[in-house]
Amino acid sequence: MLIGRPAEIPSREITDPALYASRREWLASVGLLAASAVRAPIRQDTDDKPTPYDVITTYNNYYEFGTDKDDPAKNAGSLRTKPWTVTVEGDVKRPGAYPLDDLLKGLPVVERTYRMRCVEAWSMVIPWMGVELGALIKKLEPGTRAKYLEFTTLADPKQMPGLGYRVLDWPYVEGLRMDEAMHPLTLIATGIYGKPLLNQNGAPLRLTVPWKYGFKGGKSIVRIRFLETQPKTSWNLSAPHEYGFFANVNPRVHHPRWRQDQERRLGEFFKRPTLPFNGYADQVASLYAGMDLKANY
Ligand code: MTE
Repeated sequence: MLIGRPAEIPSREITDPALYASRREWLASVGLLAASAVRAPIRQDTDDKPTPYDVITTYNNYYEFGTDKDDPAKNAGSLRTKPWTVTVEGDVKRPGAYPLDDLLKGLPVVERTYRMRCVEAWSMVIPWMGVELGALIKKLEPGTRAKYLEFTTLADPKQMPGLGYRVLDWPYVEGLRMDEAMHPLTLIATGIYGKPLLNQNGAPLRLTVPWKYGFKGGKSIVRIRFLETQPKTSWNLSAPHEYGFFANVNPRVHHPRWRQDQERRLGEFFKRPTLPFNGYADQVASLYAGMDLKANY
C-alpha cells in the first residue's frame, strides 16, 4: 500500500466515467463552476481500490435515520437539503448565516480518495469531492482566541425519524482542534464519485478527516463555531472511555467491543491490518508530538 502524498492520478482513471458526466451540471447547481476554473490539482491519496458507489451509498451510519446499516438509504429521502444554511459563530471575523453556495463560493474544488475507518472495525475507500476545510476557515477569518472548531449537524424530528430514539443526545456534534481543521487532508465533502452527496452520506455537506475514526465526520452540518475551548462532542459525552475527542485511528488502543488492530474492508474477504493514523501518519503524526496517544485516544 502506498502511504502519504503520492503522484497525481486523475480520479477519472479510477472512476466509472458515467458518474462524472453530470459533474459540470452539479458544479453549476451549487455555484462552484467559477471555482472550478481555479481548481487545485487532483490528487489521489491512496492506491487502494475505491469501494463501489452502491456500497458507499447503502451501508451507512447516520443514526438520525435509524441504526441499521441500510436504514439511512431507506429513510433519508425525507431530508430536504435545498435551501441549506450554515451558521458561522464564535471568534471569527465573518460570522453569519450563509446559504451553502455563498459559504463555498470561490473555494477551489478538490477530489481526494481517502480510506475511511469506522470505529466498528470496517473500512471503505471513498473518492470524495469538496473543499479543504482550511480554505473555508481562512475565508471566514478566525480570531486569535479560536483554538477549536465545533460542527453541529441537523436535528429536525420532522425530517429525521431516528431522533425519536435517544441513542445520542441530539444534535450530533463533532469537533476538531484548529491545527487538525487546517490540515490539508481535512475536507468539507459535498460529493462522492463526482456526484453530489446523497442524503444518507451527509448531504449537502459533511466533514471528512481520514486519519480519524469515521464518527468524527459529522453529516449535514448546519453550524460551525470557532471556540477557545474544546467542544463537547456527542460520542465522547455519551461514552467518554469508548470514544475519545481526538479519535485518531490507533491499532494499539482497543474499543471494548471492537479490536482496532485489524479491519474488514467492505468487499474483501480477509481482514487487513489497521495502520496508525489510518495510514496517514507521515502527514499528521507531527500534530500530536509529545502527546501520549494511548491516554489521549
Ligand atoms: N453524522 C451524523 N450526523 N450522524 C451519524 O450517525 N455517523 C458517523 C459519521 N457521521 C453519523 C455521522 C459514523 S459512526 C460514521 S462511521 C460515518 O458518519 C459514516 O459515514 P458514511 O455512512 O457516509 O460511510
